[in-house]
Amino acid sequence: MAIPIYFVALLVLPFAAALASTVPFKGCQQKVKESVHGPPRGWYKHAPAPKHHLLELKIALSQPKFPELEQHLWEISDPSHARYGAYLSKQETQALMAPHPETLDVVSEWLALHGLAEEELVRSSALDWVTIRVPVGLAEEMLDTTYHVYKHAETGESIIRTTSYSLPEILHDHVDLIQPTTMFARFKAFRSTLHWTDQAQPAAPCPPGTMITGPAGNPVDASCNSTITLSCLRQIYNAENYQTTAANGNKLGLTGYLNESVNNEDLQQFYQAQNPSAYCSNYTLVSIHGGVNNQSHPGPEANLDSQFGFGLVWPTPGTFYTTGGEPPYIPDLVYPDDQNEPYTYWLDYLLSQDDIPQTISTSYGDDEQTVPYNYAIRVCAGMASLGARGVSLLFSSGDDGVGDGNPDPASQQCKSNDGRNVTTFLPIFPASCPYVTAVGGTVNIPETAVNFSGGGFSNYFPRPAYQDAAVSTYLETLAHGTFGGLYDPTGRAYPDVAAQGLHFSVIYKGKKNLISGTSCSSPTFAAFVSMLNDARINAGKTSLGFLNPFLYSTGYVALNDITKGSNPGCGTLGFNATLGWDPVTGYGTPNFEKLKDLVLAMP
Ligand SMILES: *[C@@H]1O[C@H](CO)[C@@H](O)[C@H](O)[C@H]1NC(C)=O
Ligand SMILES: *[C@@H]1O[C@H](CO)[C@@H](O)[C@H](O)[C@H]1NC(C)=O
Ligand SMILES: *[C@@H]1O[C@H](CO)[C@@H](O)[C@H](O)[C@H]1NC(C)=O
Ligand SMILES: *[C@@H]1O[C@H](CO)[C@@H](O)[C@H](O)[C@H]1NC(C)=O
Ligand SMILES: *[C@@H]1O[C@H](CO)[C@@H](O)[C@H](O)[C@H]1NC(C)=O
Ligand SMILES: *[C@@H]1O[C@H](CO)[C@@H](O)[C@H](O)[C@H]1NC(C)=O
Ligand SMILES: *[C@@H]1O[C@H](CO)[C@@H](O)[C@H](O)[C@H]1NC(C)=O
Repeated sequence: MAIPIYFVALLVLPFAAALASTVPFKGCQQKVKESVHGPPRGWYKHAPAPKHHLLELKIALSQPKFPELEQHLWEISDPSHARYGAYLSKQETQALMAPHPETLDVVSEWLALHGLAEEELVRSSALDWVTIRVPVGLAEEMLDTTYHVYKHAETGESIIRTTSYSLPEILHDHVDLIQPTTMFARFKAFRSTLHWTDQAQPAAPCPPGTMITGPAGNPVDASCNSTITLSCLRQIYNAENYQTTAANGNKLGLTGYLNESVNNEDLQQFYQAQNPSAYCSNYTLVSIHGGVNNQSHPGPEANLDSQFGFGLVWPTPGTFYTTGGEPPYIPDLVYPDDQNEPYTYWLDYLLSQDDIPQTISTSYGDDEQTVPYNYAIRVCAGMASLGARGVSLLFSSGDDGVGDGNPDPASQQCKSNDGRNVTTFLPIFPASCPYVTAVGGTVNIPETAVNFSGGGFSNYFPRPAYQDAAVSTYLETLAHGTFGGLYDPTGRAYPDVAAQGLHFSVIYKGKKNLISGTSCSSPTFAAFVSMLNDARINAGKTSLGFLNPFLYSTGYVALNDITKGSNPGCGTLGFNATLGWDPVTGYGTPNFEKLKDLVLAMP
């Protein structure tokens, strides 16, 4: 219940004078701000939420200057533009992310009306988010809604959500969204399989010294056709002789969520086996929002990412970001419930830093349709803000082809969650965000698309101009009516690029394992981008920043085009890899030496 009164609260507001004469909420109607048709498949309403349970509510204030920020992003990421590489500072970026002062005033006033004084609000560094901790009862009053405990039928996990919430009409233009309300996303790591080596032997052992020809025309160990090591990736992607620099300011960042921890002993054991010169080197750990790096609880995803990401770029310094969030809701406990999808915490932290790694890889994602539209738009805008700072963001494209991994076409999967209940391909977010570079998967030498490689078309984000030509050309190869109604051909198409994704030899709990997934592909591609940044920084040039305008205009010529394979799902054979860009492997895999020549010739 709101306790302090309006006038008392006003006194603590810096903008009290401006507000004293206005009472904007008096008689103001609550109007629905957002509603979803129902919880996604798998969730069911269990019971009313306990009124005393604490919610950590995040309020996104509108960003009127985002179009200006986006315009900067297009210019400074386009190698043919005079401003290429003129990245914005933290202060410049934050100024373009900031809400209008009037928005700050009106929202503070509304919060004060509900008894929340300025000192109880946590604001992001750009002031674009306000976080409050309130009991369910008060949140229900503020949002004119009723929260329930929803349970997941398969996993039994519980969350507190609602399917609709309202705000006073006057706030609608000032607030983009409030969560947790309608968010049912089930965030996952794209590490599809973990094979113990004693169960999954590589096909046939090659006699020592046997070589095959890699995509760049150079000889590659034949064993790389069945098991991927650091050395294999450097051979396949033509970077065998490239040496990175330890101290030129270049860095590689990797993100971890869901308690995924990098095991330090496993990392050293991996270095000893695959990159002995990196043995005893370390990475920087950054914990955000209670993120853990629990040495008693090694994470297969975190081990894979760190071993291959940091191992490939050594001695370039590595940073591992571990972000907390998403604890399961435990009924009857009064613990604050911060079950937000955790990208916003991570973005908030990074954008408040002066120094950010130039290249960052993430191997996690959600089905786009389970992330509320407004939320996806807002998180994607945060990715654009990082791009404006000169950061290259790489994301795995997902491990279920065009679908959700259910092989049974008669199953209830691949269904839309918009009330129409129609069969549809299921794009993955954040890979579907037009301001990131999405990485699909390949297998074997010569490389073909690996059949789980996530790809397709966003239902939220329209196709960005940089990929207009590439995607139109691809769509023309499809027979008329192909997959009609299953995808939106006008949406942002992904992935943008690809890299090997099957049978990476990882150390997990002291043992050799083979791990597969586009989780392998994203840190791999990111490592080669980091090496390109290393070369550019040594040549006195800027980092590459947001990659797609470069990749789609000129960079693609230095990628190995993948023309075989497809990404089946939803009872279909999926899209085909083709000549040129395709929604299975994008423009293909890196040819490092060729890319290096290209980026060193750029301003
Ligand atoms: C690599 O393995 C694939 C699948 O087993 C095979 O088709 C291909 O011929 C192999 N490549 C070479 C160069 O031997
Ligand atoms: C993370 O670890 C904490 C503490 O061990 C546990 O309560 C929580 O369930 C874990 N969360 C996930 C998503 O595994
Ligand atoms: C490496 O860094 C981690 C994280 O900061 C730390 O826990 C660990 O003790 C360091 N040293 C080694 C040898 O792993
Ligand atoms: C670390 O992991 C162990 C094993 O899963 C668990 O018992 C312990 O509670 C965890 N510690 C923290 C701080 O999460
Ligand atoms: C969706 O349609 C299927 C039949 O194709 C039906 O069994 C299912 O109950 C429907 N689900 C919803 C939420 O309407
Ligand atoms: C993908 O390929 C693997 C290995 O060849 C096969 O076992 C699996 O069934 C394929 N998946 C689909 C969806 O076709
Ligand atoms: C993929 O290629 C196969 C074989 O050429 C063809 O039958 C199929 O129609 C193609 N699918 C698409 C979506 O283009």
